Amino acid sequence: MSSLVEVTGENFPIFQWDILEIERNSFPSPWDLNSFSSEIDRSISHLWALLIDEVLEGYICFWIFANETHLMNVAVHPEWRGKGLGERLLCKMIEVGISEGAETAWLEVRPSNLVARSLYEKAGFKEVGFRPRYYKETNEDAIIMSLPLSLVPKVLSA
Ligand SMILES: CC(C)(COP(=O)(O)OP(=O)(O)OC[C@H]1O[C@@H](n2cnc3c(N)ncnc32)[C@H](O)[C@@H]1OP(=O)(O)O)[C@@H](O)C(=O)NCCC(=O)NCCS
Repeated sequence: MSSLVEVTGENFPIFQWDILEIERNSFPSPWDLNSFSSEIDRSISHLWALLIDEVLEGYICFWIFANETHLMNVAVHPEWRGKGLGERLLCKMIEVGISEGAETAWLEVRPSNLVARSLYEKAGFKEVGFRPRYYKETNEDAIIMSLPLSLVPKVLSA
């Protein structure tokens, strides 16, 4: 059985080691414990976890401010990728964003991350620009993608 759970200061100690393990297996410059703790403390930040049979297998972190939602981090356990979990997490960001009055969703992605780009395109995000040398450790540019949330009912029912 699967469920989406909001990660808060109260339940973070239960989930933190699973989150850090997935993070380390997902990114060249993974967030550390302090990075996640700061997000938990930040009022505009939202962290949600996807549990399968009570075990955390993925998470998403996003900010909501100024009528926008901005994806900060999303990752799925390597053994659970390609099974729809990333899509469910992204839908949660969109759902919470809409419920809190956001009108546009934004994200940055590495040009080389074809899997993530495909996920975002499937959800209706479009490329709208790029940030030169955004990823410091590899000097890679970031593609900026956005999704007007007024389009979401059409996207989800397509
Ligand atoms: C990106 C990531 C979160 C996607 O999660 P996931 O659970 O594997 O994705 P899903 O199973 O929900 O797939 C949704 C869509 O993503 C795309 N996708 C998923 N796996 C793919 C693959 N191996 N090749 C190409 N596209 C793929 C497809 O468009 C897919 O839709 P489809 O199943 O209808 O073809 C996951 O691969 C991950 O954790 N990667 C490492 C961390 C990362 O790169 N995060 C994003 C930073 S911007």
